[in-house]
Amino acid sequence: MCETIQIRDAKGHIGQKVRLRGWLRNKRSGKNIHFLIVRDGSGEMQCVAVGEVLSEEAMDLCDRMGIESSLDVCGELSADDRAPGGVEMQVSQVEALQLVEDYPIAKKEHGTEFLMANRHLWLRSSRQIAIMRVRDEVEKAWADFFYDHGFARVDTPIFTPNAVEGTTTLFDVDYHGDKAYLSQSGQLYNEATAAALGRVYCFGPTFRAEKSKTRRHLLEFWMLEAEAAFFDHEDNMRFQEELILDTMRAVLENCAEQLAILERDTSKLEMVRAPFPRMHYRDAVKLINEKMPGREGEFEYGSDFGAPEETFLGEQSEQPLFITNFPANTKAFYMKRDPGDPETVLGSDLLAPEGYGELIGGSQREDDLEAILARVREFKLPEEAFEWYFDLRRYGSVPHSGFGIGLERTLSWLCGVPHIRETIAFPRMLHHMYP
Ligand code: 4AD
Ligand code: MG
Repeated sequence: MCETIQIRDAKGHIGQKVRLRGWLRNKRSGKNIHFLIVRDGSGEMQCVAVGEVLSEEAMDLCDRMGIESSLDVCGELSADDRAPGGVEMQVSQVEALQLVEDYPIAKKEHGTEFLMANRHLWLRSSRQIAIMRVRDEVEKAWADFFYDHGFARVDTPIFTPNAVEGTTTLFDVDYHGDKAYLSQSGQLYNEATAAALGRVYCFGPTFRAEKSKTRRHLLEFWMLEAEAAFFDHEDNMRFQEELILDTMRAVLENCAEQLAILERDTSKLEMVRAPFPRMHYRDAVKLINEKMPGREGEFEYGSDFGAPEETFLGEQSEQPLFITNFPANTKAFYMKRDPGDPETVLGSDLLAPEGYGELIGGSQREDDLEAILARVREFKLPEEAFEWYFDLRRYGSVPHSGFGIGLERTLSWLCGVPHIRETIAFPRMLHHMYP
């Protein structure tokens, strides 16, 4: 029996007889010849089956083998620049693990509704595999980046007793008779662990009962939240720039093949440079009111931006754009006021270029006990529930800052995928939870 290999390692086995196991991606047949495009998850390879080599039975099997049949093939590998991946197999033996003749996703265009209902199969398409590979790369790049910068990953709970980001987007669950909520942010816990370990992050599923049905919103998404003791607002923004540049570099370096499949215009990514431009909320509102098509003069100072405003603002710049100094009442209670402009906060939203929307929300945190108490009262939050959080301002309070970055938003931008539903294997959206 010959050695079983993964297609991604094929180049190292030229001239050898090897075994592959995978699925039939595609097939072209001629007289006495079949070109089987086999994928094994790690890549794709053209395997050539010819009547001179194979038995009549084996050729008949190839003839009947439909798309997504699972198979086991052996043969010698040769270099061939015309073949996808540059390596081709001359098949000497072929077996079907399961013959499929009626795979539901054909090459013809299917509507989104059909593809979403068949997400478990849609994931096998080249495009979806490419996006999941980039996702894996970004997760690795993030883990490495934070590790290298001395941040410890400390995971935070998913069951939580109260809101962080506002009460309108909470999913509640029965916690043995008590009401609990699915986490909409691990930040408050990060603030506690940052006071223990200095620099921390959490990364996990995040739940928002958003009623919005936009191409940017999921009800369950993955957010990485970082928190650093002694970071001020400026440090926080500079660190976000570094993170974005590093993530982009990792994807450009290691996912060229995937970005090509996705037909991503990488020149748009390659031109991204730090420092990213910064725009005061007041100027952003002015710009919207002066220039945003259909919205001229309509945006009210003091509201938070929705998806259309974020798209518009993001399109104004080829670089990611920080919007700073939001009015305090549009943002969460924990943000520190800007001493030079106390109606506004020391926080920022980072908008992706090309109109992909908000990637990061971050801020310096209110570290003064009296001020945070006042905020909790102002926002009419249940004071008792925050007792432990106040302790962080009673015992060794320090200036600290942090942010949250959405994995799926980041992927939409890097992959050039207009709808967020393709950036997570099984998206959870308004009126969509199957499969
Ligand atoms: O701006 P947000 O709500 O910030 C927080 O949750 C802070 N507690 C973070 C922190 O400072 N520790 O969310 C942060 C990011 C957004 O910029 C966006 O990328 C993503 O999370 N996000 C969503 N992604 C997909 N679907 C949704 N419904 C999202 N809501 C937020
Ligand atoms: Mg936000």
